[in-house]
Parts: sequence; structure tokens; C-alpha cells
Amino acid sequence: MENRPQWGTRAGFILAAVGSAVGLGNIWRFPATAYENGGGAFFIPYLFALLTAGIPLLVMEFTIGHKYRGSAPMSLGRMSKGSEWIGWWQVAISFVISTYYAVIIAWAMSYSVFSFNLSWGKDTEGFLFGEYLKLAETPGQFGGLVPGVFIPLVIVWVVALGVLFAGVKKGIEVANKIFIPALVILFGIIVVRALTLDGAAAGLDAFFKPDWSKIADGKVWVAAYGQIFFSLSIAFAIMITYSSYLPKKSDITNNAFITGFSNSAFELLAGIGVFSALGFMAAQQGVPVSEVVSAGVGLAFVVFPQIINEFPALNGFFGFLFFGSLVLAGLSSLISIVETFVAGVQEKFKVSRTKAVAFGGGLSALVSIIFATKGGLYFLDSADYFINQFGVALAGLFEVIAVAWFAKELKNLQSHANSMSDIQVGTWWRVCLGFITPVVLGYMMFDNLRNNLT
Ligand code: PHE
Ligand code: NA
Repeated sequence: MENRPQWGTRAGFILAAVGSAVGLGNIWRFPATAYENGGGAFFIPYLFALLTAGIPLLVMEFTIGHKYRGSAPMSLGRMSKGSEWIGWWQVAISFVISTYYAVIIAWAMSYSVFSFNLSWGKDTEGFLFGEYLKLAETPGQFGGLVPGVFIPLVIVWVVALGVLFAGVKKGIEVANKIFIPALVILFGIIVVRALTLDGAAAGLDAFFKPDWSKIADGKVWVAAYGQIFFSLSIAFAIMITYSSYLPKKSDITNNAFITGFSNSAFELLAGIGVFSALGFMAAQQGVPVSEVVSAGVGLAFVVFPQIINEFPALNGFFGFLFFGSLVLAGLSSLISIVETFVAGVQEKFKVSRTKAVAFGGGLSALVSIIFATKGGLYFLDSADYFINQFGVALAGLFEVIAVAWFAKELKNLQSHANSMSDIQVGTWWRVCLGFITPVVLGYMMFDNLRNNLT
């Protein structure tokens, strides 16, 4: 077992964990989620969720990976025989996500090239769906490949699988040491520029203006916990896998705090950048900021190109920075997702890393081609919806219940983590995981079910 690969440096592990956490969720999910759920007031449930669930769960997953030294299924299986399937469930979710996450990165890659000539024109929505995704050519069904998506998709997979082939230290660690600092610089420049645009102040005003009445709304709390789980890549098998490559002596708790706070800092930065830009666009169009707020594909590929069109100067350059940021943030997350099933397959079937990457990564790459066909967008939409509504909350719920209630492992994990960490976790940590997190996740599941049935 001990020829297990290891991170070369502590910074390498932290950058990889942050690289997984910082993704599309920070840039295109957090800003609108915060805005819709109380603006400035959202920070209270958000911080609460970070401290009662996000960081405690990170500490837990880091400790499980470090202690049991395996992929998520192997680690959970070693913890208690009956829990291996939970790891596979998480791996399966990661597999599904990887198939469409790669496609979105491919779009961002195309758009970073489109930036130079502002090829998306004035009608950015028509361009995205009509010309780029060719949705109109086979309405409601799916047809042949769309070369504009297929070619960047191949590049995305070549990079991601190339990194994974190279291994933990020489591949994942090196890639994140390049991608994450580059991401912070690219994105930092665009945020500073956005802050100095006309209308930025109105955008920030809309973003931070607290609506305190929302604090009493259960939905806002569900949104806060949901954002934290997704954003920290918790219960996706990722953090267990990554921490299984930690050296024996590692400050687990401290690493978890650094990872959690770095991700939130990037989220805040993205909120500031996105809302400054939205404020600018609202001012250009003479409408209130509320009319231009959006998230997801619409924000990134419809609204942002419009914003870039309106930039006073260097439009192409700033477009490139924005879409380049999406590519870097996305790639580092994609690599972490694929690593979960690479590690799982490698250990379960006792095959080499190379074979596991070729098989696991290759399969995901093949499936992702479905989304690069005319009409593939419909599949992407429903995959994303299903995963977000059911997959993640359920995976997290199974995990904490298995650890805290069935295996009664919290005390053991607590002493394992404390034996090598500066920050000591105590009773509050066990209460967060054994009680608060299961209740919140259970409620989230119930809430999702109710919303879907009515
Ligand atoms: N944490 C990433 C984000 O915020 C998303 C992600 C989810 C990445 C699941 C990997 C796995 O965008
Ligand atoms: Na994130």
C-alpha cells in the first residue's frame, strides 16, 4: 500500500483542493444565489453553513482519506464494510458531472477564442443557441456532431487526461500550481477593471444590499447549505481521494480551514466582479440592475458577451480574461472529478494508473461527446438538474450518517485529526457532523422532493 503516490508539498495539496473547489460554482452560481437570497443578508446563513457544515465536513473527509489511504470507496469500505457503496455512489455522481462539466469548459474555450473578434455579435443569445450550439437544426432531438464544440472538447480531454496520466505529483500537483495562480491573476485583473466601470457602484449596491426579512426564510438557509456543499466539492469523493495522497504527517484541520476560506474568498471576489459588470451593463441599457441579473450558462455565454461588447476599450482582451478564467477554474475541477473514478477503478480492479485513466477517463470523454451533438444541450440540462436536486444532498446524507451513526467513527476521526493538527476539533465538530449536517441535508432532500412533486 505504501507505494501510494504522494503530494510533493503541502502547498501542492492545498492548491489541488482549492483547484477542485474553485470552479464554475464560484463564478456563475454564487453571485446570483447570494443576490436572490437576501443580498448582504445572505452572508449570515452562508457563513453559518460554512462553519457548521462546510469546514467540519472538509475536516472529516480529509481525515477519512488520510487515515484510510484510499479512493472514496476504498476508504469508506475500510472504515466500515457496509459503506463502500456510498463511495461508489459519489464516484458515479462525479462521473456524470464530469461528462458535462467538460463540455462547458469546451464552450468557454471556444468563447475565449471568439473574444478576439467579438464573433458572437450583438445577438449573443441567438449566436449561442443558433450558430454555436446549432440547436435550431434539429429541434427537440439530437443529431450530428457540432464541430465547434467537438474540437475544443477534444482539447479539454487531452489536457485533463494528460495531467492524470502524469500522476498525482507530476500531473495534478504541477497543473494546479500553474492553473490556480494564473486563475487568480486573470480573474483579479478583470475584477479590478469591472470595479472601475460606470455603474459598478450600482451593481455592488444591488449585490450587497441586505434584505433582512430573508433570514427567516427556510429556503434561504437551504440555498446557503446547498451552495457550500457544491462549492466545496463535498460528498463528491474528491476530497477523500485527494487527502489519501497526503503524507503521514499533515496538518489536516488547518488545511481544511485554508481550503474553505480560500474558496469563499474567491466566491466573494467573483460576486464583486460579476455584479460590477452587471451594474455596468444595466447603466448602458438604462435599466435597473435587477433586470440583468442571471446565472449559469445564460450569465456566462449570453450576458457576459454583451458586457464585453460594451467595454470601453480592450474588449477582446477582457473577454479572453473572463473565458480564460472559466477554462482554468473548470479544468482544475474537472481533473479532480475524474481522479475520483480513476483512483476507484485503479484500486478496485488492481490495474495501473495508466489503464485506469484510459478506461475511466476515456469512458467519460466518450459519453461527453453526446453533449457535443446538435440538441445535446437538452441532455446536459437534465443531467445537471438531476444531480443538483438529488445526487449531492443524498450522497452527503449517506456519508455523514454512515460515519457518525453507523460506524460511530467521529471520535476516532477526531483524535486522528487532532493528533497532527494545530487547530483542535472538539465537541462542536461532532455536533455539527452528527446532528446539524444530517438534519440540514435531510431537510434539503425533503424540500427538493416536495418541489419536484408539486
Ligand atoms: N466545487 C466546484 C465549483 O464550485 C464544482 C464541482 C462540483 C467540482 C463537483 C467538482 C465536483 O464549481
Ligand atoms: Na467552489
